Amino acid sequence: MHLLLTNIKQLCQVETGTARKALVKGEAMRVLPSIENAWLFIEHGKIHSFGRMSEPPAVAANDVMDMSGRTILPAWCDSHTHLVFAAPREKEFVDRINGLSYEEIARRGGGILNSARKLNETSEEELYDQSLQRLHEVMGKGTGAIEIKSGYGLNTDAELKMLRVIRKLKENAPIPIKASFLAAHAYPLEYKQDHEGYLKLIIEEMLPRVADEGLADYMDVFCEQGFFSIDDTERLLEAGWKYGLKPKIHANQLHHSGGVEVGVKHKAISVDHLECVGDKEIAALKEGSTMPTLLPAAAFFLGIQYQPARKIIDAGLPVCLATDYNPGSCPSGSVPFLLTLACTQLKMTPEEAINAVTLNGAAALELQDEIGTIAEGKRANLIITKQIPSVSYIPYDFGNNPVDKMIINGHFI
Ligand code: NIG
Ligand code: FE
Repeated sequence: MHLLLTNIKQLCQVETGTARKALVKGEAMRVLPSIENAWLFIEHGKIHSFGRMSEPPAVAANDVMDMSGRTILPAWCDSHTHLVFAAPREKEFVDRINGLSYEEIARRGGGILNSARKLNETSEEELYDQSLQRLHEVMGKGTGAIEIKSGYGLNTDAELKMLRVIRKLKENAPIPIKASFLAAHAYPLEYKQDHEGYLKLIIEEMLPRVADEGLADYMDVFCEQGFFSIDDTERLLEAGWKYGLKPKIHANQLHHSGGVEVGVKHKAISVDHLECVGDKEIAALKEGSTMPTLLPAAAFFLGIQYQPARKIIDAGLPVCLATDYNPGSCPSGSVPFLLTLACTQLKMTPEEAINAVTLNGAAALELQDEIGTIAEGKRANLIITKQIPSVSYIPYDFGNNPVDKMIINGHFI
């Protein structure tokens, strides 16, 4: 199948030449390379070529479509979600309005433990159906690659059930999906006084099965006071590495917990959240190649401090943005809304924010050779916007969906 898109108002995040960028950092994040008045040729699901309308393509396409007034971007890469869950938690939302904190709710057996109870009562089929629906919903808002975590099972059967649901999504959905194993999300009630017992269960029983069945790409831990300590995290990450699972962890959401440093030390692909980050953590990030991933929609929904994106970028580091879609701290998988928060609250420019959720999102999923920019040979996972005046209009027009149509693997969906 050949598809030629012509008269594209702006073709954004293009890469020309043969060298491909692995990510974009520091000052360079302000630049979103684009072509005005462009064409784009798609062949067999991949980007074949692109250029200016003033230099028309020498190709024969069976389909030609006029894109006047439209902007085209690479689809968003959402590198941190908990999209597989069994039920919403709007009652806790009301509890928080009435003064309880996220941590207090968790201490009382709510929060993640509440989601785990619901998930244990829900069949694999029902979980899959709900999750597929959520996946379609976020794809309609521009998401073209995604990471999904376990972590609401908290026992061997239910963690494996979640990971099988993710595997089935991988098999049936048209976009790339990565799976993270997050049994270390919270200590289940029966292990409240026996942390050692739960760590052993994860390391000696769950991990070998997860690895044996090839159910996960990454090892995740909620490294936080009141959840998993630095020592716990180190043991879990070392165990994960033994089975070939690279770390991708929750760090520094609620406290300066040392999570960032431990992630860098264990060569994490990314450390995610980072509300509580200062000079010490930034210095650690500069020592390694771990991607700092910011989740401002969770900070927004919990009403906690935002991530110091400016400080991180101005230190010359890359920044990735992701939604954290989950029933507790962020019941929205909307990347357009995430972009608005990044601009209004984190003071990122629209170009920085779009870089953070395209190329850097792909890097945080180790998919930078496949997606994240418009480059020859990459997958044709693309956003076609409504008629908009410029890319800055995307975060500006908050609460609305800029997407008119999505192309996934060269096909309109
Ligand atoms: O990323 N922080 C830990 N985990 C999730 C929230 C999980 C939940 O509340 O269900 C997060 O915010
Ligand atoms: Fe999360």
